[in-house]
Amino acid sequence: MYRLLLGTALIFRFGRASPTSAPDSGEISLRDLAEPRFFGAAANTTFLFHDQNYTRLAETQFSIFTPENEMKWENIEPFPNVFNFTAADEIVRFSEFSHAKVRGHNFMWGNQLPPWVNDSLSATELDRVLKNHIDKIMNHYRGKLYAWDVINELISDTPNATFKDIIWTRKFGEEAMPKALVYARQADPQPRLYINDYGIEGINGKSNTLFEVVKSFKEDGILLDGIGFQCHLTLGQVPPDLQENLQRFADLDLDVAITELDINLRGPANDTALAQQAKDYEEIVNACVAVKRCVSVTVWGVSDDHSWIPHGEVLPWDGEKRPKPAFFAIAEAFGESTSSG
Ligand SMILES: *[C@@H]1O[C@H](CO)[C@@H](O)[C@H](O)[C@H]1NC(C)=O
Ligand SMILES: *[C@@H]1O[C@H](CO)[C@@H](O)[C@H](O)[C@H]1NC(C)=O
Ligand SMILES: *[C@@H]1O[C@H](CO)[C@@H](O)[C@H](O)[C@H]1NC(C)=O
Ligand SMILES: *[C@@H]1O[C@H](CO)[C@@H](O)[C@H](O)[C@H]1NC(C)=O
Ligand SMILES: *[C@@H]1O[C@H](CO)[C@@H](O)[C@H](O)[C@H]1NC(C)=O
Ligand SMILES: *[C@@H]1O[C@H](CO)[C@@H](O)[C@H](O)[C@H]1NC(C)=O
Repeated sequence: MYRLLLGTALIFRFGRASPTSAPDSGEISLRDLAEPRFFGAAANTTFLFHDQNYTRLAETQFSIFTPENEMKWENIEPFPNVFNFTAADEIVRFSEFSHAKVRGHNFMWGNQLPPWVNDSLSATELDRVLKNHIDKIMNHYRGKLYAWDVINELISDTPNATFKDIIWTRKFGEEAMPKALVYARQADPQPRLYINDYGIEGINGKSNTLFEVVKSFKEDGILLDGIGFQCHLTLGQVPPDLQENLQRFADLDLDVAITELDINLRGPANDTALAQQAKDYEEIVNACVAVKRCVSVTVWGVSDDHSWIPHGEVLPWDGEKRPKPAFFAIAEAFGESTSSG
C-alpha cells in the first residue's frame, strides 16, 4: 500500500518533468531513501568539477562513490613506485565534503595496467610490486575508505578454468587472490575487502566457480568481507535468481553489494524501453533490499551523457540530468523497504 502511495506521490510531484524544466530530482534524495544502505555512483573527476549539474546530483543523491578510473593502476602508479594521488584525492575530498563513503577500486585486475607491469617481471618481482602498490595506497588513504575492490574480474568466463589467464594468475596461479587479500588486510585492517566481478549476478557457471573459491577461502581462514556484483546488464535481462544468488554469498558470512549497475538499452530510447529499464532497476534494488547483508547499490556513472557506454542511455538520469523513470523506480524500491523496516 505504502509502495503505491509513494509511487503516486512521486509521479504527482515529478511526473511533469519536461525538457524545459530545470534538471532537478526535486526533494527526492536516493541517498536518504536508501538508508541504512548506501546509494552510490562511479565518480569521474573529468566531470565532477567541470559540470555543475553533475556535481549537484553527486552532492545530493549519493552516499558512496567509487572512483571510475582514478585509482586504477595506470593512473595511480604510472611508473615504478611513482604514485600520483591527485585525481583520486579529489574524489576522496569531495566525498568527505558531501558526507559520502568511498569504495576504492581496485588493486588486482588484468586491465588498465601501466606498461611496466608486464610478464617480464619475475613472480618474485611482481610479488614485491603488488605488495608495495597495496601498502602505499592503503597507507595514503588510511582511515578514509569504507571498502576496497581488492580483486577485480579474475574469475574465468569459460568452464574449463577457474581463473582468467592474466598476468596475476600466470605468475601466482591460485595464490593470486589470497596474496592481494592478505596484503590488503595487513596494510589496513579497517576497510571492507571485496572481490568484484561481472557475469556473476545470477546462479550460473561463473558464479558457481566464484562461490567455490570463496568457500575455500573461508575454510582456509583467508579474510574477505564481501562480494561485489557489477550488474552491467542489458535491458530486460535481470537474472530472476539475483536475490537468491546474493543470499547464498551472504550466507557465507559476507557482505554483498551491487557495484557497477547500468542497464544498456542497446537501441534508441522510447517509452517502452525506458519503462522496462525502470523495471530492471527496481528489480535489482528490490533484490538488494531483500538481503540483509546487501550494503549498497552503486550505479556506474551519474547521467547518460557521462557513461562509459556512449549512447546506451544506461543510467537513472538523462543527458540533461533529468530523472528518468529508472530514478523513480529506484526511489520506490528503496522507499518501500524503508517503510517496511
Ligand atoms: C545545468 O542545468 C541548467 C538548467 O537546466 C542549464 O541551464 C545549464 O545549461 C546546465 N549546465 C550545464 C553545464 O550543463
Ligand atoms: C571520465 O570518463 C571519460 C569517459 O568515459 C573517460 O574518457 C575519462 O578518462 C574519465 N576520466 C577519469 C579521470 O576517469
Ligand atoms: C598526476 O595526475 C594529475 C591528474 O590526473 C595530472 O594532471 C598530473 O599531470 C599528474 N602528475 C604527474 C606528475 O604526472
Ligand atoms: C616491461 O616491464 C619492464 C619492467 O618493469 C620494463 O623494463 C619494460 O620496459 C616493460 N616492457 C614494455 C614493453 O613496456
Ligand atoms: C578454455 O577455453 C577457451 C576457449 O573456450 C580457450 O581459449 C582457453 O585457452 C581454455 N583455457 C584452458 C585453461 O584450457
Ligand atoms: C523501443 O526501444 C527498444 C529498445 O531500443 C526497441 O527494441 C523497440 O523496438 C522500440 N519500440 C518502438 C515502438 O520503437
